[in-house]
Amino acid sequence: MSDSTASHPIWSNRLTYILATTGAAVGLGNIWKFPYIAGENGGGAFVLMYLLCILLLGIPIMVAEVMLGRKGRANPVHAMLTQARSAGVSKGWSLIGIMGVAAGIMILMYYSVVAGWSLEYVFQSATSSYIGKSPTDVAAGFGVLAQDTTRQLIWHSAFISVTAFIVGLGVTRGIGNAVNILMPMLFMLLLLLLWYAYNNGEFMRGLTFMFSADFSKLTGASLLTAMGHAFFTLSLGMGTVMVYGSYMPESQSIPSASVTVAFLDTLIALVAGMAIFPLVFASGLEPGSGPGLLFETLPIAFSDMWGGAFFGTGFFVLVSIAALSSSISLIEPGIAWLEKLGITRIKATVGLALLCWIGGVASIYSADVFSTLDYLTANIMLPLGGLLIALFVGWRLGYTRVRKEITGVSNGLFNIWFVVLRFITPIGVIVVFYESIKGLFGA
Ligand code: TRP
Repeated sequence: MSDSTASHPIWSNRLTYILATTGAAVGLGNIWKFPYIAGENGGGAFVLMYLLCILLLGIPIMVAEVMLGRKGRANPVHAMLTQARSAGVSKGWSLIGIMGVAAGIMILMYYSVVAGWSLEYVFQSATSSYIGKSPTDVAAGFGVLAQDTTRQLIWHSAFISVTAFIVGLGVTRGIGNAVNILMPMLFMLLLLLLWYAYNNGEFMRGLTFMFSADFSKLTGASLLTAMGHAFFTLSLGMGTVMVYGSYMPESQSIPSASVTVAFLDTLIALVAGMAIFPLVFASGLEPGSGPGLLFETLPIAFSDMWGGAFFGTGFFVLVSIAALSSSISLIEPGIAWLEKLGITRIKATVGLALLCWIGGVASIYSADVFSTLDYLTANIMLPLGGLLIALFVGWRLGYTRVRKEITGVSNGLFNIWFVVLRFITPIGVIVVFYESIKGLFGA
């Protein structure tokens, strides 16, 4: 057995758990994905469905998933194995862990490409390369990047290398230290951008777009997108919060930590929306313009603003930081698993990073690979993982065993959570799956 199995690492304090998990949650999902999928799905009604999914599916599953990790004190695969064994149920439940490790790698295969776009825009902002150009030219700049495979390859490789470097340093020394520096920077940069949008964008129009619901636009497919995004943005259903939970100090309350993280993540998504939509409208663009939205809109806004190069650099540094604290969480479950199988952390890191790198190259060359990886993971694997976690904790683990690990809440609150997890959460996921499949066949 290796050393790491004898002494499983623990975050140096409670705040580090919160920062690491918030860092995992807040990422490209909040700043890049949320604005453009909300745009593609009509705005308000979609935002409302997404918030509902956070509340009824996201938070209950997060509590369950973190609990499995802390109780098992191991990576997702072994944590599930131990729990299944102690509850006397099939070892097959550990497949949740294996599917999770795979999903994390698959997400990173396109996530890193988008993070690379963000690095490119840090570079372009810092060198003032789009400053003073016409809005059409600035927006077209993203199309040029999308065709430039060499450039994307360089940034993707750089991003994967930094991710691997931090993760390779270890849980407390690498991930813990990184989030303690990165997260405060992220909060400050975001407030700065909100202030800018308030002063320079069409702020009210942005707000109206986000919060006025037109339910006629809501289809089965957009419902699935909203649910998938709730899982994606909270980093649920694949073992990220399970492995981070396995490093959580014993004295920390899982429900209050989970509510804090879900609240911060939702707040940051809404604030990012409030910062970005006003600029979209002020730039004369459409919010439904797809994955390029962020990289077309914001440079336009910065291109004719006083200090645009400076604020533009700051903004894309923010996006890159958010991406980095998430990407380390996508790869950690797999690394922790390989370590337990006796592979050194360095070898595990290099191996998995290489795999992500290869997948990223495929995503750069093929938009189909890119969008298939995104669709499969966010809309299918994560909700399925979440559903299985809810069923396992709700129906297989047993009330007393679960109650012991969930501290810091009254029996009343605990019971509400447990009932929601047993009934509402699984039914919710199944109904959304069903509605979207029905939609596929045009019924
Ligand atoms: N939540 C991150 C984001 O919004 C992405 C992410 C990190 C993730 N870890 C995850 C998504 C685990 C799903 C599962 O950008």
